[in-house]
Amino acid sequence: MHTSTDVFAKVRDHDRTEVLAAAREADVLPYFHVLTSPAMPVVEMEGAERIMLGSNNYLGLTADERVLKGAEDALHSFGTGLTGSRLLNGTIPLHLELEREIAEWMQTEDALVFTTGHQANLGTLGTLLGPADTVIVDSGDHASILDGCLLSRAKLRPFRHNRLDKLEKMLDRAQDDGGGVLVVVDGVFSMEGDIAPLGDICELCERYGARLMVDEAHGAGVLGTRGAGTAELLGVADRVDLRVGTFSKSLASCGGFVAGSHEVIDYLRISSRAFLFTASAVPAAVGAALAALRVLRSNDGPPLLTQVLENARRLRDGLHERGFSVVDAQALPAERLQEGAPGVREAAGAHTIVTPIIPVLVGDDWTAALLWRSLYDAGVFVNTALHPAVPPGGAMLRTSVMATHDEATLERALEIFSQVKRQFESEHGPLPGPRAS
Ligand SMILES: Cc1ncc(COP(=O)(O)O)c(C=O)c1O
Repeated sequence: MHTSTDVFAKVRDHDRTEVLAAAREADVLPYFHVLTSPAMPVVEMEGAERIMLGSNNYLGLTADERVLKGAEDALHSFGTGLTGSRLLNGTIPLHLELEREIAEWMQTEDALVFTTGHQANLGTLGTLLGPADTVIVDSGDHASILDGCLLSRAKLRPFRHNRLDKLEKMLDRAQDDGGGVLVVVDGVFSMEGDIAPLGDICELCERYGARLMVDEAHGAGVLGTRGAGTAELLGVADRVDLRVGTFSKSLASCGGFVAGSHEVIDYLRISSRAFLFTASAVPAAVGAALAALRVLRSNDGPPLLTQVLENARRLRDGLHERGFSVVDAQALPAERLQEGAPGVREAAGAHTIVTPIIPVLVGDDWTAALLWRSLYDAGVFVNTALHPAVPPGGAMLRTSVMATHDEATLERALEIFSQVKRQFESEHGPLPGPRAS
C-alpha cells in the first residue's frame, strides 16, 4: 500500500477543514479579528466600537499611566530588544527587580522570569521532570502544562477535572511507578473560570509524598487580599511547592514566571532550555510587568481586585437573569479561607466567589459561532471555545471582565446580550437556559 510521504498532506484534509471552510464562507469565524485600538473596556475592531468581554486584562492596567510609563522608560533606557538570552546578554536590572518582587509577592525564596508564560510551564516541567517520573494533571489544565509534560517524557496520569477521588487514584497508582511524583493544576481554570480545591489537593499530595505546582495565570492579580492568587485565597500558599504565572493577563504585559524554593529556581536558572535558549523579553514588556506588579502591590491594588470581582458577579448574575446558561457562584471551603479576601461573599454560612471568567454554555459549535457573530455585529466581543478546545457539544462563549468596565458599559453589554438572544432564538430556536442551582 502506498502511503504519502508528504508531511503537508494533513494541512489539506484534516478533520476541521470542512468546518473551517463553511465558517469562513458564512463569515462566522470567531478568530483573528483585528483590534485597531488599545486594549480597553471598549475597543475598536474592524471599524466599529465593541465592548471588550474577551480579554484577560483583568485589572485593566494595559492603559494605566504608570504601566505605560514603565514600558516607555524601559524602552528608552534599554532599547527595543535585548537580542539574546537571559544567560548571555539578555538580563537587565528590571529582570532582577521583577524576580525579587515576584518572590516577595508570592512569599517564596526565589522566582525566575521567562519570556512567556507558556515557556515558564515548558521550561519548568520539561526540566524538573524526566522519563522516570510521574506527572499527574487535571484534564482541564492549560495546553502549556501538557506541552511541558510531553516534553519531559514523564509518565502522564491525567485525572477528570477537579475530581479529587480520581486524583487520589492516580496518586495511589503513581506510588508504584518508581520515580518522583508531581501534581500540576491550574489555580483558576482558563476556560471554565472555576477554582481548584487546593486545600484538599495539598492534603492528598502531602499524604502521598507528591510535589504540587499550581499555574496561577488567571489567579494571580485576581484572587486573595494581595492578589497573589488561588493559593493565597485558599490559605495554602506555604504548602504549594511551585507557582507559575504570566504577565499576559492581570499584569498587562507579556512574559511569565515560576516562584518557589531557591534550590529549585536556581537549578532552573542554569538548566531550563526554554529559559536559556530563547531571547529575553523586550525591555518594554519587562518594564510594564514590573510597573503593573507595583500598582497591584500598592494601596491602589486591592480596590482593583474588589472591582474586577464585583464586575464578574454583576455580569454573571445579569446573564443568568437574562436566561443564559452560566455557572453558579462557586462555593469556597470556609476552612483556611483568607479572611476579608476581595470578591468573597458570605450568605447563610456559605462563602462564594465569581471569577472574572464567565463561560456561557451554548452546546453546538455552529450555534456558538452564529451567536458569537450576532453579538459581534451588535457591539460585544467575546471569546469562543469550540471543539476540540472543549468536548463535543460543549461549545461556549467565554466572557471575561476587567476592573475598568464601568457599570453603564456592563449594563449596555447585558442589554445587547438580551436583544441578540431574542432575535437569535426567533430565528434558530432556543439556546440552553439557566443551569439548575
Ligand atoms: C492557565 C494558563 N497557563 C499558561 C498560559 C500561558 O501564558 P502566556 O500567554 O504568557 O504564554 C496561559 C495563557 O495563555 C494560561 O491560560
